[in-house]
Amino acid sequence: MRSTDTKDHGAAGPSPGPRSGSRQLPRTTDPLPPGLLLPSPPEIPDASVDRPQSPYPADARDVRGADQDVPYAVTRALDAALDEHLTRAAGLDPVFKRDIADRVARFTQDGGKRLRSQFAWWAWRACGGTDPADARAVLDIGAALELVQTCALVHDDVMDGARLRRGRLSLHADVTAQYAYAVPDRGGERLGEAAAILAGDLALAWADDLVAAAVTAPATDRRVRDVWSAMRTEMVAGQYLDVQGQATSVRSVARAVRAACLKSALYTVERPMALGAAVAGADVATTRALCSAGRCVGMAFQLRDDLHDVFGDTRSTGKPSGGDVRDGKPTYLVAVAQARAEAAGDHRALAVLRRRLGSADLTETDLDQVREVLVATGARATVEAKIARLAEQGTRHLNRAVLDTGPRRRLDRLLRSAAGLPLPDGSGAPPPPGHAVSVSLALAAESEGAVR
Ligand code: IPE
Ligand code: MG
Ligand code: MG
Ligand code: MG
Repeated sequence: MRSTDTKDHGAAGPSPGPRSGSRQLPRTTDPLPPGLLLPSPPEIPDASVDRPQSPYPADARDVRGADQDVPYAVTRALDAALDEHLTRAAGLDPVFKRDIADRVARFTQDGGKRLRSQFAWWAWRACGGTDPADARAVLDIGAALELVQTCALVHDDVMDGARLRRGRLSLHADVTAQYAYAVPDRGGERLGEAAAILAGDLALAWADDLVAAAVTAPATDRRVRDVWSAMRTEMVAGQYLDVQGQATSVRSVARAVRAACLKSALYTVERPMALGAAVAGADVATTRALCSAGRCVGMAFQLRDDLHDVFGDTRSTGKPSGGDVRDGKPTYLVAVAQARAEAAGDHRALAVLRRRLGSADLTETDLDQVREVLVATGARATVEAKIARLAEQGTRHLNRAVLDTGPRRRLDRLLRSAAGLPLPDGSGAPPPPGHAVSVSLALAAESEGAVR
């Protein structure tokens, strides 16, 4: 409910008298001076009354309408959820709303390719999903996946010390810049990072709210919650392996594979598809085939991201080039280069890796030297070949699932473009700039490239 009540309780206003049904903050025993009374929190809206007009499909025809432009349908689900949250945030405090809540909403609404939510939708449709109530649940879960992505990226940029995201200042850098005039020394950076931690937490909390409210049949509801819960923990585990490997300079190929799988493949492709399959009530064999396809393609997606980080162009990735090298990230690419240099006794390559990886003040020439080693050791070619193999394996797994024909084709295209492979008709090979939400059907299908 977009309750106007919430607007009545601005931070600066005096507390109104108690109202029946409204929940009051506990008072301390010391009475506060007049004018400093805490505002009572807004009422928790009753979900059963006064809902805004539903943004979701009302009948089967609308399900097919959402098929035409899944990113648009998901964005509408997001808009509805964020509208409510922003209204409530305004009722809590205007500074919190402006600095944190608005940023979470903007980041989620204005960027990203709706990749994860498309995987959930098309997996649901491919598993025979047609029910409009389930469509609503899948769109809400899709919106939740987009909010998880906001949490992941906002926190990731703090952990990776990245100032650019989707071609703009990352959230923490943006808050630091906002307060540059008022906060001396490094205080602004601390504030920016604290704000980003809170913004990421808020995005995750809102995502959880959406999933909790996306009611499906009891049996599928349980499956959705289980997948959701696993996904959140996997992502945290993967991110920790990433930063721990970075700090300790441990670069084994096996650990790099595990980290890429946990920090990216699962929450980007496999789990979103598992969520769609769960809502459709898919059988075990179908779910397993989709998950295997998702894991292969998700790995390919992260390996491609690692390549783009070193060899890509900031204008198309929206991220600084060479960030992983400067940070000393234990990527698969670097682990393979190191393993191959060791096996070949290539001391020059090993010396370059030792000196340059994790060195924050790398020049463009230093970076080129690392690029040269990644090429000369054969690591770049190995990663390219691995991506192609993973994509092919993904297609094979998809082919053994019994799925509806039209949606299967859509899923296949989506998987191929996530792996950065050309589409069957030859389109979609070069990744376009991806920092805008692609709302048209054509862009949605073809724009899965390097930019998260
Ligand atoms: C981040 O991996 C994965 C998550 C956000 C969970 P990266 O650190 O490689 O992501 P980018 O390259 O900054 O997008
Ligand atoms: Mg990272
Ligand atoms: Mg990063
Ligand atoms: Mg990366």
